[in-house]
Amino acid sequence: MEKFIIHGGKKLSGSVKVSGAKNSALVLMPASLLNNGKNTFTNVPEVNDIFTMKKLLAHIGAETEFENNNLILDTSRITSQEAPYEHVKKMRASIYVLGPLLAKYGYAKVSLPGGCAWGPRPINLHLEAMKKFGAQLDLEEGYIIAKSKRLHGAKIIFDISSVGATGNALMAAVLAKGTTLISNAAIEPEVTLLAESLKKMGAKINGIGTKTIEIEGVDELHPIECENIDDRIEAGTLMIAAAMTKSKIEVKYRNINHLDILYDKLKESGVNIAFSENTVYVDAESTAVKPVDVATAVYPGFPTDLQAQWLAYMTLAEGNSQVTDRIYFDRFKHVPELRRLGAKINLIENTAMVQGVSKLKGAKVMSTDLRASASLVLGGLAAEGKTEVLRIYHLDRGYEKIEEKLQALNADIVRVKTEEY
Ligand code: EPU
Repeated sequence: MEKFIIHGGKKLSGSVKVSGAKNSALVLMPASLLNNGKNTFTNVPEVNDIFTMKKLLAHIGAETEFENNNLILDTSRITSQEAPYEHVKKMRASIYVLGPLLAKYGYAKVSLPGGCAWGPRPINLHLEAMKKFGAQLDLEEGYIIAKSKRLHGAKIIFDISSVGATGNALMAAVLAKGTTLISNAAIEPEVTLLAESLKKMGAKINGIGTKTIEIEGVDELHPIECENIDDRIEAGTLMIAAAMTKSKIEVKYRNINHLDILYDKLKESGVNIAFSENTVYVDAESTAVKPVDVATAVYPGFPTDLQAQWLAYMTLAEGNSQVTDRIYFDRFKHVPELRRLGAKINLIENTAMVQGVSKLKGAKVMSTDLRASASLVLGGLAAEGKTEVLRIYHLDRGYEKIEEKLQALNADIVRVKTEEY
């Protein structure tokens, strides 16, 4: 096991480059199952979730090469249509192989994901969409067995906007016979990139980036080269790190327009934000942190994946604030850990009522999931004294070389081996 030791209270300075987005890469990779050949993806982060998806695709028969953030997936010789439990239990995004395998091969056997660290996270919308395309679905020994002759186009109206279900429905629809209409589609940048990439493969898609997407199925798709977008959640995490440590930094981030809501909230809290092409300048040096409420929402609303980090920030505000998660009601495992750093937070259902304190104090804390662990690192950077963040394998699922990036920004953070769990 490894942990971070952080000596907090140091100001950050300098410039940091944001890595490629984990969540877009996680759907682009299985999308390559829709064609036969060598797909190349650039700007792919070297993080554990990507390694898990790579292993899953290799199990299915894809040949993979991954070096210097360039990922090659050759899908010419697929040998299996099965996503086994050992991969899916590690990472729920494994469900993304369902749509492409079913559409391309007429069969998919995918383990049901089971629970998640912070709540149920169902996949009913994915399954209902596959049924609408004409697939027969059965559950056997914890596996979804999906079968179909060629899928047919369908009218899919999602009750809830879902990134994953929209991705799976899109990947099924592009090879289905006839027209598909997806209503209340997710419009997160990761979904938009998927749709654009499918179009590049030869899919016929209208309404990309809107809540209504129309797809005309085609008989086959071809491999592509695709550049991944930058990770808006990593970018946001770094900006909040600067705000929490009253620092001035430059965040090299090429998809500036994907984070408008965060800039608004940071400005409201007293941070100065400026832009040039591909760079966000964050200046929180003379900031008295004003309390700012947030409630997470689907894009372009405040991302649930930045809720924990914002909550950590608000613990240092001069006053009271409320942080509500409307996407995942139970995503608050970081609250008891932030309290160990001295935060005053009262959790009422899906709202954290935060009473700002003048300082946090270092302590030993435990990561429970990816974004919760990011919030603890931020807490540690801002806290007085020494913080140890345990179980950082959660963080390694989605943040590429985060301690090296923070060290380059002058933070006192080291990764050490530990027996502690
Ligand atoms: N939902 C259902 N049924 C479904 C699917 C979703 O009820 O079949 C509900 C969820 O419970 C949730 C809402 O719909 O309340 C939205 O969930 P969504 O399906 O959009 O989430 P996801 O696709 O499973 C992706 C990201 C998450 C991110 C969410 C929301 C990936 C691999 N994961 O998950 O990222 O929090 O969208 O933006 O793209 C993370 O990176 O830390 C992370 C958890």
